[in-house]
Amino acid sequence: MTTVRLNSADPVSLDTDALIVGFRSGQDGPVPAVGAEALDSAFGGRLAASLASVAFTGKAGELAKLPTFGAIASPLLVAVGLGDSPGLEGLRRAAGAAVRSLAGTARAALALPADTAEEAEAVALGALLGAYTFSRYRTNGEQKAPVSELTVVSGQDESVAERAGVLAESVSLVRDLVNTPPSDLWPAKFAELAEQAGAKAGLSVEVLDDQQLREGGYGGLVGVGQGSSNPPRLVRLAYSHPEAAKTLAFVGKGITFDSGGLSLKPSASMDWMKSDMGGAGAVLGAMIGIARLGLPVNAVGYLCLAENLPSGTAQRPSDVLHSYSGKTVEVLDTDAEGRLVLMDGIARAAEDSPDLIVDVATLTGAQIVALGWRTAGVMSNDDAVRELVVEAAGAAGEGAWGMPLPEELRKGLDSPVADLANLHPERWGGMLTAGIFLKEFVPEGVRWAHIDMAGPAFNKGEPYGYTPKGGTGAITRTLIGLAERHASI
Ligand code: BES
Ligand code: MN
Ligand code: ZN
Repeated sequence: MTTVRLNSADPVSLDTDALIVGFRSGQDGPVPAVGAEALDSAFGGRLAASLASVAFTGKAGELAKLPTFGAIASPLLVAVGLGDSPGLEGLRRAAGAAVRSLAGTARAALALPADTAEEAEAVALGALLGAYTFSRYRTNGEQKAPVSELTVVSGQDESVAERAGVLAESVSLVRDLVNTPPSDLWPAKFAELAEQAGAKAGLSVEVLDDQQLREGGYGGLVGVGQGSSNPPRLVRLAYSHPEAAKTLAFVGKGITFDSGGLSLKPSASMDWMKSDMGGAGAVLGAMIGIARLGLPVNAVGYLCLAENLPSGTAQRPSDVLHSYSGKTVEVLDTDAEGRLVLMDGIARAAEDSPDLIVDVATLTGAQIVALGWRTAGVMSNDDAVRELVVEAAGAAGEGAWGMPLPEELRKGLDSPVADLANLHPERWGGMLTAGIFLKEFVPEGVRWAHIDMAGPAFNKGEPYGYTPKGGTGAITRTLIGLAERHASI
C-alpha cells in the first residue's frame, strides 16, 4: 500500500529516490511552476533550458526524466507539464501521471504547486490514485511495484494528506472490486465484502438474501438473478451523524457479470462486463469515505447485486416481473437488466424518506455513444439537483454532463400486458429511455438523480493522468462530494 505525507522541507535537500516538479508551458518554453523555482537555481538556472533541449515544453501531461548528478539530494528529477494554468484537476492528473511513470521506484516526492490546502490535497490524491496497481492475479513478477512512500512538499497541515488518503482508499477499493474477475466476485461474495468493509468504517450493514428478496417482493432482483447459480443480494449500508439535517440515498447497479441473459451479448461486448457492478462499487466506496470523513449528513446506500446469466432457470423475454414498488414490468430484453434491479433499489430507498436519491449505474451502451468513454450522463426529475450533481462531478474532476428526460419517450415503454416494458422499440436516445424507465419508480415528490457511467467505469484504453487501465472507481468521489454539499440537497 502506498502512503502519503506532507513535508515543508526544501525539496533541494529532500531524501527521496525521485523528485517530481512542475513546469508550465510558456511562450518561450517550459517555465518552472510554484515549487520548482528553488530547484532551478540548484541547477544554476539551466533546468528549463535543459528540459527544452529534450523537447519538453510543459504541455499538460508531458513527462521528462533527468539524472541530477548530485545537484540536489534526489538522484532523479521528473519534470511534469502543467499546461497554461492547471487548476486542481490538472494538478491531480500531473501528479498521477508522474507517479505512475515511477513504478518500480520506492520513494517519490512531489514539489508541485501546493500552497493551499486544496492544491496540496489535489497533489496528494492524484499521486495516490496514480500509484494504484492491481497485481493480485500476477505470478510472474513482471509488473513493477508502485511507489510506496510519497511525500508532498507543502506547508499545509497533515490532515490534508489524511483526507486524500481516505478518498484514494475509497476509489482503490472500487477499482479492486471492478477488476476482480466475476468467478471471484459473485453477489453473495460482494455482500460479504461490503459487510466487512462497511462494519470496519462504522456503517451499519444489512443484507437480504435471495429467499428474503423473494418474500419481500423484489421481483426485479429475483428475476435478473434467477438464471445464475449465484443468487442475488440487496445490501443496505447506513451512516448517520448527530448533527445531520439531510438524508442522502445512493442506489448502485451491481451486476457482477452481465452476459445479457437469454438476450445474450456478442463476445466483444461481454468480455468486460465484470465492470457492470461499478455503480454498486461506487456506492460502497462513497459510503465508506463519507463515514471515515465523518461528514455531517445521514446517508444510506443500496447495492443491487445479481449475476445476469442464461440457463434453464433464467428469466425469458416476455416474462412479467412484480417490482418492489408494486408496478409490473414486461421483460422484453433480458440484457436491459440494470433498470430491473435498480427499480427495486430505488423504490426501497424511497422508504428511508431521503431528501435526495441518486442512482449510479453502468446502464446503457447509449451513454457511450452519446458522451464517450469519460463523460457520465446525469438525468434528474429536478433541474437544480441535476446541476448540483454535475457541479460535484466537475469539482472532483470526474466528467459528467446533464441530459434531459423527454416526456415523449415515455409512451414507447408501454407494454400490452404489464404496466411498463423494459425496452423501448427505438434505440435512439437509449440512455434517456433508461432514465425515463427508472423515473417511474421514484415516488411523487421525491427528488432523484440518475448517473449513467457505462463508459467512465472502465478504462479499456491506455492509462492517462491518475486513471489506470481497467476499473477506474469513477463517480465514487462525486458521491462523496454530494454528501459534502449536504446543505444544498
Ligand atoms: N451493462 C450494459 C450496459 C453497458 C454497455 C455498460 C457497455 C458498459 C458498457 C447494460 O445492461 C445493457 O446491456 N444495456 C443494453 C440496453 C438495451 C438492451 C436497451 C444496451 O445498452 O445495449
Ligand atoms: Mn445488460
Ligand atoms: Zn448491465
